[in-house]
Amino acid sequence: MRIDSARSDQLQEWESELSAQYQRICQHELSLDLTRGKPSADQLHLSDGLDGILNGDYRAADGTDTRNYGGLEGLQCARELGADILQVPTEEVMAAGNSSLTLMYHAVLTGYLFGFAGNTPWREMKSPKFLCPVPGYDRHFSICEQLGIGMVNVPMTATGPDMDAVEEQIRGDSEIIGIWCVPKFSNPTGVTYDKETVDRLAQLGQFANPGFRIFWDNAYAIHDLEHQVNLPGIREATHENDTGDSVLQFASTSKVTHAGAGLAFVSASEANLASLKKQMQAMTIGPDKVNQLRHSRFFGEFTLLREHMQKHAQILNPKFECVQSQLEKAFADTDLGTWEEPKGGYFVSFNTRPGCAAAVIQLAADAGVKLTPAGATFPYGKDPEDRNIRIAPSFPPLEELDTAMSVFVLCVKLASVRKQLGML
Ligand SMILES: Cc1ncc(COP(=O)(O)O)c(C=O)c1O
Repeated sequence: MRIDSARSDQLQEWESELSAQYQRICQHELSLDLTRGKPSADQLHLSDGLDGILNGDYRAADGTDTRNYGGLEGLQCARELGADILQVPTEEVMAAGNSSLTLMYHAVLTGYLFGFAGNTPWREMKSPKFLCPVPGYDRHFSICEQLGIGMVNVPMTATGPDMDAVEEQIRGDSEIIGIWCVPKFSNPTGVTYDKETVDRLAQLGQFANPGFRIFWDNAYAIHDLEHQVNLPGIREATHENDTGDSVLQFASTSKVTHAGAGLAFVSASEANLASLKKQMQAMTIGPDKVNQLRHSRFFGEFTLLREHMQKHAQILNPKFECVQSQLEKAFADTDLGTWEEPKGGYFVSFNTRPGCAAAVIQLAADAGVKLTPAGATFPYGKDPEDRNIRIAPSFPPLEELDTAMSVFVLCVKLASVRKQLGML
């Protein structure tokens, strides 16, 4: 099916065939969900051994009684786990709380209210802004929106954010004080940043506002599917460029153990950690060290964590293959859409023809298949071309995913034909 070269009688014929198919599917009264990237129950079971693992022994190897207050930076063994995941020295890691998103929120708040490392608080600027590679992660954008921090779109490419655009924005506006990055298996495009991108990001601190920070959200650091993919180290790159203060790194075990009941980590320079701790110590006496010890006992060594992630991959692989094969079968020789083939992470990003994404999502919803809302992958929920749809294959069982993808594919075809006929 090629829309651009189709005559109008051909389009009419397709429209009535596809509409008939769509009506038949609607009669099935499906109730399927391809929205949030949550681990499936099978994945959660992989970590059920956390329950009861302490068996009454609450002392960490360094003698800490984890049942009591204290230790803002987290247990040493939990910090080591974070250091392994982020590939940074343990002393540069805090293990704090159960959610990296919460840590990112606190980090933005720290920059906004107090400023990092003695720099001007962002709230004192006329118009502080973050660069947002798009499509991106909606919850990053919500943090900025809630605090009234402006957002500037920069396009994602196959190797990371468009660095010419990033540099141009920063050179032209001294009130750009941050950039959101999901550097490995990016949400939603699945892209892993290449060495040149990481190097150029590491150089931004040389000419950006001194309060500028890269928010390096490495949520999928160890979430490889078939093969391990290497992400060049941002820490090393910033050290080579004398810009060590310009980056804050984040990770968690949300999609490693139990989502929402895992560990979260932040890694940064001494000066940045001091700023963060100053804000956090007014807020908490310390993290849940019992859970930190549980995680540390469960994994013991990093190799066990890697083996654990391979079990996740075995569950996720067939689901990602299902999505790819449905898209390939339906759209390989068409002009109806383009998509990514991620090597890890939780998402597949699909671009429809311009002006069709919202219609696809509505058609799918009416047929009983929930997709992430149109525009969600852009700041303020506005996809300027109305093209991007984020598919999250992890949660539904394979059979349901396959059915949901058949509905998705049909909705893309129908919306594309209707758009071309001027029916949308
Ligand atoms: C890029 C990214 N960062 C952060 C999170 C949330 O992580 P956490 O559960 O540690 O708050 C997600 C969850 O989907 C994500 O995709």
